[in-house]
Amino acid sequence: MKLTFLGHAVLLISDIEGKYNVIIDPFITGNPAYPKDFQLPKIDYIMVTHGHGDHLGDTVELCKKYNSTVISNFEICNYLKLKGCKIHPMHVGGVYYFEFGKVKLTPAIHGSGIHEGDKVLYGGNPCGFLIKVEGKNIYHAGDTGLTKEFELLKDIDVAFLPIGGNFVMDVEDALVALEMIKPKIVVPIHYNTWDIIKADEQKFKEGAEKLGIKCVILKPGESLEI
Ligand code: NI
Ligand code: MN
Repeated sequence: MKLTFLGHAVLLISDIEGKYNVIIDPFITGNPAYPKDFQLPKIDYIMVTHGHGDHLGDTVELCKKYNSTVISNFEICNYLKLKGCKIHPMHVGGVYYFEFGKVKLTPAIHGSGIHEGDKVLYGGNPCGFLIKVEGKNIYHAGDTGLTKEFELLKDIDVAFLPIGGNFVMDVEDALVALEMIKPKIVVPIHYNTWDIIKADEQKFKEGAEKLGIKCVILKPGESLEI
């Protein structure tokens, strides 16, 4: 299976058992970090951590194009159902076994309002995703601040953690989180998309390596095969 970082918090998990493609937080249109020439495969499932535009992104358009199923919290799913998307609502703490693997929604300390025109709609609780596919545990934290909830995560093979600060953890806090999670590999996300979330990923890598954790910095469009 291939884990491809597509800039900001976009993660494509492709060729799961050679069959399934799953995308998390598909912020493509308007994402300055999205690799322009990237050829997206047919998307089977779209996972959305929360309602903010830089995460909900192109969900509706992708759903229509690929007839994908959206996995998100109950409120976001029902909002998307009204837009014509196929949905599988879940909620924080819930587990479900999909054809591609096991999914659990984990807590995230953040907001989830959906901005639509001149209104802000209630988007439920934000979340992270813990996904078990092909025997590997992949954790995408979503947007979150530092929380002791990280201590509950066990046996993580690859963790995708936000490090950009301002809206989410900065490098310093992400390193505290890393100490609690102790994944085999960590990949920093949600930084340098805009100046307000500028971060020094090399400093994060050095800190991770001091903790004995392998840090892989992926440029948008680059993949990790596990
Ligand atoms: Ni957000
Ligand atoms: Mn965000």
